[in-house]
Amino acid sequence: MSIYSVAFVGLGYIGLPTAVVLANSGVDVTGVDVKAENVERINRGEVTIVEPGLEEGLKDALASGNFRATTDMIHADAYIVAVPTPFTDDYHVDMKYIFSVAESIAPKLEGNELVILESTSPPKTTRRMAERILELRPDLIADGEPNPDNKPVIYFAHCPERILPGNAMKELITNDRIIGGETAEATRRATEIYSSFCKSELLATDAVTAEMAKLTENSFRDVNIAFANELSLICDNLGINVWELIGLANHHPRVNILQPGPGVGGHCIAVDPWFIVSSDPTNSRLIRTAREVNDGKPEWVIEKVTQAVNETGAKKIAALGLAFKANIDDLRESPALSITQKLAAKFTDCEILAVEPNVSELPATFAGEGNVMLTDYTEAIDTADVIVLLVDHNEFKTVSAAQLKGKAIIDTKGLWV
Ligand SMILES: NC(=O)c1ccc[n+]([C@@H]2O[C@H](COP(=O)([O-])OP(=O)(O)OC[C@H]3O[C@@H](n4cnc5c(N)ncnc54)[C@H](O)[C@@H]3O)[C@@H](O)[C@H]2O)c1
Repeated sequence: MSIYSVAFVGLGYIGLPTAVVLANSGVDVTGVDVKAENVERINRGEVTIVEPGLEEGLKDALASGNFRATTDMIHADAYIVAVPTPFTDDYHVDMKYIFSVAESIAPKLEGNELVILESTSPPKTTRRMAERILELRPDLIADGEPNPDNKPVIYFAHCPERILPGNAMKELITNDRIIGGETAEATRRATEIYSSFCKSELLATDAVTAEMAKLTENSFRDVNIAFANELSLICDNLGINVWELIGLANHHPRVNILQPGPGVGGHCIAVDPWFIVSSDPTNSRLIRTAREVNDGKPEWVIEKVTQAVNETGAKKIAALGLAFKANIDDLRESPALSITQKLAAKFTDCEILAVEPNVSELPATFAGEGNVMLTDYTEAIDTADVIVLLVDHNEFKTVSAAQLKGKAIIDTKGLWV
């Protein structure tokens, strides 16, 4: 391989597993992150996120000498950037993390390096990152630009990540991967890197199509879930079990409806569709409406809990699950977390038994809510009068009908119906 050193920038849910898998495929990888405490822990072989197989992989990578972490940007043949891309109040991408990385990479470049953006981004973000770097380094030029002065060339690409947290170590290797260079040569160089560990198809395209492809995948899921969530409201009014209904409809050979829930969370499906909407508000009516339907579901759940509390005179409400999906510890953009917080604020004379088997303490956002306790799930189920199931964690699947007898149940995931 002509690329022999990679700086992996951003060692979070995406960056750390990918950097480790890349190092374990034989590439020399330096992980760079601004969080000094995490860098120290990573260098000691401690994982900073819950991800099966990551700790073993990290220990192997450190032992092989192919991996180390640092807070200081280094020179490398290639940079892979996996920093957050949240949205602003008006749903445009907040470029502050990408620009800050661009500013730290720029002084290290010598020419002939490849810079890959992995962060999920609106169309043309890779170009904006490149422009920021080249603004700071006018002595360099992007591949493909007219180059009469024969300046040293930098290559740029976008390679979106589509792994499932919880199955990252496997999917990094087995998922097909989209590789979009700003030029054909950038695509070729990026393909070379990913081929070192990705054993599936490497799909070559251009950067802007790669950016849009990732947003399209998540918007497709968001629209489909919005359809299921809308059905769940209609079915509730009609006295129909929505999970049975969707199960029956999905027996049609060309129908595949996803599952309803308490809303849509996480930093991908709940965020990425907005990047399409902000890129072209006029033509993205369906995508925007799906976002609104999914964002409206938590209020519906709170209304159902309110009815149950009013009917039963409940004093203890168990909220089962805080994470944004099953069997992970990630609480970002989680509808379960926001529902639990709103219940705590609304029912100040009730105890809210918050159950989240994947965290050891309540997030700081609960600091003002004295009526919320992180509780073991068996104790919560035994003692609560109203139980709202918000996440289908494996632990909750083992709850028996006898344990739920006499309780008011709001099952937003269809686990017990
Ligand atoms: N988590 C997922 O399941 C997932 C899936 C696909 C795509 N993505 C995308 O990947 C990107 C990263 O997501 P994540 O979940 O890994 O985020 P994360 O918050 O877990 O990790 C980001 C890391 O970047 C670091 N960082 C921030 N600014 C930095 C800087 N200037 N220099 C170096 N490090 C810096 C942070 O300290 C953090 O450790 C986002 O664009 C996200 O949308 C995430």
